[in-house]
Amino acid sequence: KEYNVAILGATGAVGTRLIQQLEQSSIPVKQVKLLASPRSAGTVLQFKGQDVTVEATTPESFDDVDIVLASAGGAASKQFLPEAVKRGAVAVDNTSAFRMDPEVPLVVPEVNESAIEQHKGIIANPNCSTIQMVVALKPILDAAGLKQIIVSTYQAGSGAGQMAIKELDHEAQQHLNGEEMTADIFPVKSEAHHYPLAFNLLPQIDVFEPDGSTHEEWKMVHETKKIMLGDMNDPKIKVNATCVRVPVVIGHGESVYFEVEDNSNLDAHKIQQLIKNGKGLVLEDNPAEQLYPQPINAEGHTDTYVGRVRADPENPGAYNLWVVADNLLKGAAANTVEIAEKLVEHDLVRVPADYYGKK
Ligand code: A2P
Repeated sequence: KEYNVAILGATGAVGTRLIQQLEQSSIPVKQVKLLASPRSAGTVLQFKGQDVTVEATTPESFDDVDIVLASAGGAASKQFLPEAVKRGAVAVDNTSAFRMDPEVPLVVPEVNESAIEQHKGIIANPNCSTIQMVVALKPILDAAGLKQIIVSTYQAGSGAGQMAIKELDHEAQQHLNGEEMTADIFPVKSEAHHYPLAFNLLPQIDVFEPDGSTHEEWKMVHETKKIMLGDMNDPKIKVNATCVRVPVVIGHGESVYFEVEDNSNLDAHKIQQLIKNGKGLVLEDNPAEQLYPQPINAEGHTDTYVGRVRADPENPGAYNLWVVADNLLKGAAANTVEIAEKLVEHDLVRVPADYYGKK
């Protein structure tokens, strides 16, 4: 069987990578449809060496589509994905629009692949910073259980999209020219105040919650619980996040501190072995050789890199590690396409009778 695949947001930072990941995937593609806003209708992109003209998205765009890969922002997903499902397509959504919906599985194949079986037409791809953390911690969860996770992120500018990458470059150029830096996008496009990211750090990603955390931090807490425990509010693993935007273009870094449930059979060396054998993981950890993960080395790769593994001498059963992944690939496009590959592999490219959004 071959599938008609639509990429919603095909001209964006993640969308262009969705095209590349789909080209390299095991999915037999009959026809690809590249969709975006009317702004870029008519743009010609390539799929497997063939020209494909980008189309403005309408509900009818999804007639005859089997699989939708979506990364055009939450508003576009909310508007178009139920339309696509109604027309019989299965959608893998990279936005936050449906992640917390109990009817929508939130999936990282290395961690909770079987959750896709419950889909009703929409499967959500988690936030970029959540994905690389749960991939790194999965083998530890399986071997020793987790009581608590405390994470600080160092997130690349590209997570805010193609225009944000341009803004970061422009600010850097302004600074080097001795000019004042101007900002219109960071930290959050829709907010009242904007600050330069170049040569700076911004401890705000997404809008603020009433409790003083940011929505990005909220996502890391609740998505981690939903992926690892099946319930976004499960208190079994305590999660605490601080999310910071750093002037890196591609590749998120995360300092992760965690406490295990059962430390009787564990030490830093065993954690290194677990990581080394873990799915989708590469251990880069050798202080003697100054070997540790770095965003510039992770860029363009779909693996998650882990290093700086060490036990906390002050707190038995607690450990630190440093996790890096390409936020546009494992954090977005690669994970989305991996979910689609699993749907194909398990013959789940079909919507059930009680599909998502059916009244
Ligand atoms: P366009 O290029 O026409 O603006 P990024 O995450 O890099 O900002 O990219 C966002 C992607 O989502 C782009 O492909 C953009 O298309 C697309 N997009 C934004 N809004 C819509 C919309 N309302 N309908 C369809 N595509 C959209």
